[in-house]
Amino acid sequence: MSSGAGTTDSSDSQPGAAETRSPSVVVMRRGGEEYILEYHPGETLLETARRAGVPLSFNCERGECGTCIVTVLAGAVRMRANEVLSEDDIREGLALGCQSVPVTETIEIELP
Ligand code: FES
Repeated sequence: MSSGAGTTDSSDSQPGAAETRSPSVVVMRRGGEEYILEYHPGETLLETARRAGVPLSFNCERGECGTCIVTVLAGAVRMRANEVLSEDDIREGLALGCQSVPVTETIEIELP
């Protein structure tokens, strides 16, 4: 894992937390492939991938199973729910695709 990896902001109550922004595109990578997807504000990463036809496995869509885990490479997301990932996982850049909404102008993720 490279330093300077993206972060996952799962807390809404931190004073001085960065303001929420929406990217215009989401960059998704898988192996050597790169997908640059138009982003519609409010969508989760899973919703963006599905709308664009990019395969991303999912199951519960409630933040409970971990099937949809992605890695945030750049930028940050906020998860609406998370019953799977530990604080260490989140610090390493892991995020639940079905619950993650980008909160930075740039967002880049690695798909499993
Ligand atoms: S699909 Fe179950 S946590 Fe995302």
